[in-house]
Amino acid sequence: MRAVVANKSGSAEVLKLERVSKPNIKNHEVLIRVYASSVTAGDLILRKLHPLLFIPLRFMGIKRKRIPGHEFSGEVVEVGAEVKRFKPGELVFGTTTGLSVGAYAEYLALPEIWKRGVISLKPTNMSHKEAAVLPVGAMTALQILKRGQIESGHKVLIYGASGSVGSFAVQFARYFGAEVTAVCSDANKEWVKSLGAHRIIDYTKEDFSKQAQKYDLIFDAVGKIGLNKVHASLTEKGQFLSVKTTTKEDPGLLAFIKKLVEEDHIKPVLDRCYTLDSIVSAHTYVETGRKKGNVAIVVGGN
Ligand SMILES: NC(=O)c1ccc[n+]([C@@H]2O[C@H](COP(=O)([O-])OP(=O)(O)OC[C@H]3O[C@@H](n4cnc5c(N)ncnc54)[C@H](OP(=O)(O)O)[C@@H]3O)[C@@H](O)[C@H]2O)c1
Repeated sequence: MRAVVANKSGSAEVLKLERVSKPNIKNHEVLIRVYASSVTAGDLILRKLHPLLFIPLRFMGIKRKRIPGHEFSGEVVEVGAEVKRFKPGELVFGTTTGLSVGAYAEYLALPEIWKRGVISLKPTNMSHKEAAVLPVGAMTALQILKRGQIESGHKVLIYGASGSVGSFAVQFARYFGAEVTAVCSDANKEWVKSLGAHRIIDYTKEDFSKQAQKYDLIFDAVGKIGLNKVHASLTEKGQFLSVKTTTKEDPGLLAFIKKLVEEDHIKPVLDRCYTLDSIVSAHTYVETGRKKGNVAIVVGGN
């Protein structure tokens, strides 16, 4: 099968499209024909990480992937003898967190259940490209907003609303009934507003922290600001939340996200799509830090 392989750490050029053996599944695994994957900010961090740094990370369940790619959407084509949750022909999406093989490949062998990553039936109302960019950004945004105990009527500011986590955070905050202020640049304001933001602040022209408005929650979804900047903009019980925190992948969260997607409350924003053979360009683009929402990788022929 065709797969992107990274034999060393480094720039996007370490990613090479090669022919590798199709995986054989074990009794507790499913074989997935991958139709789409993605490039997340995390994929870039892992690609560049020095191999020795993976030694302590192994204790946190993070392994170096020779075949990178964190998110996938595809079709179950074979199941092991002990598999109960899935059958051939079902369309699924999820992550490869904690596994040593990722989704930049035509086939992926995944345990039916494991501690770090998630796999679920794909939302019925979207393409594989859209489903493949959902899990990481949406689970992160949802989990962090829930940690802040977001409530209807809360005044919520999402900083970095045009990234993956930010664009999902705007939609979840709106779904929970919050009054949403989104911070992004002028180039992104129209589509960010269309996600449900009540108000937009262009961070290149205005500084929200110098305005009188106070917020119950300020969520830095792009990891660019700190508590010292936002402190004066929080209400008495207000909280600062940052994407620079550890999050956990949770099948319950993914199931909730699937439901909200199918009920049309949440949708992933797709910026660009690349193919496996243009993976270097895809990583190079995401590395600019300017992507709008998400970047998908089309893998198979569906
Ligand atoms: N904790 C976790 O589990 C977890 C999970 C996923 C991601 N993350 C982290 O979250 C961060 C964001 O990742 P992402 O993929 O969602 O987004 P991203 O691709 O890193 O964000 C790109 C967007 O951020 C905007 N942006 C850049 N600089 C900005 C600034 N100074 N102020 C406001 N907006 C700015 C850009 O818009 P302009 O072009 O208009 O500037 C662009 O649309 C990364 O650091 C990633 O590692 C953490």
